Amino acid sequence: NKGAAAFLPTSRTLPELRRAAAGCQGCGLYRDAGQTVFGEGAVDARYLFVGEQPGDQEDRQGAPFVGPAGRVLDRAMEEAGIDRDEVYVTNAVKHFKFTYKGKRRIHQKPSAAEIDACLPWLTAEMALLHPDVTVVLGATAARALLGPSFRVTHHRGQPLPHGETVVVATIHPSAVLRAPDRDAAYEGFLADVRAAARVVT
Ligand code: URA
Ligand code: SF4
Repeated sequence: NKGAAAFLPTSRTLPELRRAAAGCQGCGLYRDAGQTVFGEGAVDARYLFVGEQPGDQEDRQGAPFVGPAGRVLDRAMEEAGIDRDEVYVTNAVKHFKFTYKGKRRIHQKPSAAEIDACLPWLTAEMALLHPDVTVVLGATAARALLGPSFRVTHHRGQPLPHGETVVVATIHPSAVLRAPDRDAAYEGFLADVRAAARVVT
């Protein structure tokens, strides 16, 4: 497996990328996962949200952020006054990586090699989108877009000009669900999403 680049179509619209990504074997993750979960949203979206990888529900349904983390993200977008018609949501890695714990499929962090292998899809999506703001959700998305030395904890909520867009990094919504003080973690997450909304308005 030499990465996703060999699977990219020559003609690159979002529907064509999605179709091609469905057959990607750029790393080993396609073998055990149910399906490729490509990004969703409008090509003219003003907000791009980049997560880590699909979870169990996303793998079953074939859409990003439709499980528990997605509900946290949905709530924050609504509270920040973000119009869903203005949003494109995707992940740094497009197949679910997991291990079994009994019958349950437990999320595993993608490796640096898997993040690199999948990056051509995210790069191709970003080449078509022209978001005012790109919200980086957690360390995996930050690694993919900003490199391994970027620290979300140091820069979260700060608008950082990045090429044609402005990046706002924050924690992953799953981290809100795992936090000892969920309410405080959510408020911090919401503050970062509000900072992203201020870039657009
Ligand atoms: N977590 C992610 O990073 N992405 C999803 O799509 C779902 C959960
Ligand atoms: Fe291809 Fe990415 Fe899936 Fe690996 S995770 S097979 S690179 S789509």
